[in-house]
Amino acid sequence: MVRRFPTAAPESSILGEHLKFPSGKIAQNRFLKAALTEMLSIFDPSTPGANGVPTQEIINVYDKWGNGQFGVILTGNVQVSPVHLEAPGNAMIFKEGETPARREAYKKWANVTKQDGALAVVQLSHGGRQTPITVNKTPFSASDVQLDKEVRFIGFGKPVPLTPEQIKTEVIERFVYAAKYAYETGFDGVQLHGAHGYLLAQFTSPTTNKRTDHYGGSVSNRQRIVLEIFDAIRKEIPASTGFLIGLKTNSVEFQSEGTTVDDAIEMCRAYENIGFDFVELSGGTYEQLAFQHLKESTKRREAFFLEFAEKIRPVFKNTVVYLTGGFRTVNAMVEAIKSGATQGIGLGRPITAEPDLPKKILQKLAPSAVFDAIDQSEFVLSLLASNTQIEQMGRNSLKEANNDVTYGLSDFSDEDTVKRFGKAVEEFAELLKIQASRGVAIPNVITFEGVKA
Ligand SMILES: Cc1cc2nc3c(=O)[nH]c(=O)nc-3n(C[C@H](O)[C@H](O)[C@H](O)COP(=O)(O)O)c2cc1C
Repeated sequence: MVRRFPTAAPESSILGEHLKFPSGKIAQNRFLKAALTEMLSIFDPSTPGANGVPTQEIINVYDKWGNGQFGVILTGNVQVSPVHLEAPGNAMIFKEGETPARREAYKKWANVTKQDGALAVVQLSHGGRQTPITVNKTPFSASDVQLDKEVRFIGFGKPVPLTPEQIKTEVIERFVYAAKYAYETGFDGVQLHGAHGYLLAQFTSPTTNKRTDHYGGSVSNRQRIVLEIFDAIRKEIPASTGFLIGLKTNSVEFQSEGTTVDDAIEMCRAYENIGFDFVELSGGTYEQLAFQHLKESTKRREAFFLEFAEKIRPVFKNTVVYLTGGFRTVNAMVEAIKSGATQGIGLGRPITAEPDLPKKILQKLAPSAVFDAIDQSEFVLSLLASNTQIEQMGRNSLKEANNDVTYGLSDFSDEDTVKRFGKAVEEFAELLKIQASRGVAIPNVITFEGVKA
């Protein structure tokens, strides 16, 4: 029996309300499945053209979320450049890798995701300077500011600033190619990943953008690349098609020279004016992770970025706003909507423990998420746990799992399971260290047996 976050009996009906996007599509409720990197696509450095093809495991994973009654389901970050990854094992869409097998896999992915009426949206991303050095020693970025950090024993190369011509060919055209691909394979839209320090955030943030041309300096120059990608996609796929274009963006970066909430307000005004269908507010970068409560006062309201969302929200009139990060109880979700801070609720870690959490909430079967015995403020550990659950979801289709979306998933509200997982993490860390010392990139997914398996 899973343990849940303690909460009073909530009234959840507001969460079941529709959300209408400016280009016409309607989400069946306010829930957004946040992007969660799966690292379950083909990755073999010796066959680069085949890399990033989604596997049957991914189809199985979305067979579960596609029956969880979400309004919108985002894929994990799908890379638009084969040599700029968030992680080995990411799904990719890139012109050099065009094959019938890749197209077929994306069609299947869109189909399973939409099974119970959710809108299926591909998150498109470019790792920029946050590409592991094992994947690319000289990644592109806005400027040559190197990320001076190791993530799971692997560092990052000194980035090469993109020339204006490369911004066109290596960034804008790649995002447009991937958006068209998503449209043609049956997805309802794309979300540009402009948060968490990846390439688009490297342009919008003054910590990483030191350019002196018209892509650097003022807020409007720093966000130019995002607006140019939007325009270029809309030229190919007009709003009249209903195809959604959304953005994940930082509300704040918590770094002395980073994007401030005032910058975010100014940028969001431009996103509203140009016609983004939705904006998902998040925060932080690899240098300053922000998926935890940095202030005691935000704990009760759960969402990490709520007070920033409250400041930004008034600029949005047509663009739909989602807030992601920290939501665990129905009461806090309802309160965030009623207070006007957000229209939609993004969920990440809670829905790897329970892929059908929205359905349970809307049917009043669950008042809150599973209360993990892993401290959620230990983001890296809880991220590894979530990726393990995603891998477990991928082992069978919903039918093979006897229509139980939680079949075979580890229950991390159970202390013993968490202890066993801790050992598996230690062993995995040893493997990562060895691979890192050899300069080999491997997907960061721990294979672990769940208690119900
Ligand atoms: C396993 C895992 C993978 C993630 N992958 C992505 C990703 O691909 N793209 C992205 O924008 N955010 C990613 N995130 C961040 C989540 O979308 C979300 O913003 C964050 O987990 C906070 O929400 P939560 O508190 O509901 O988990 C990831 C988070 C986790 C735990």
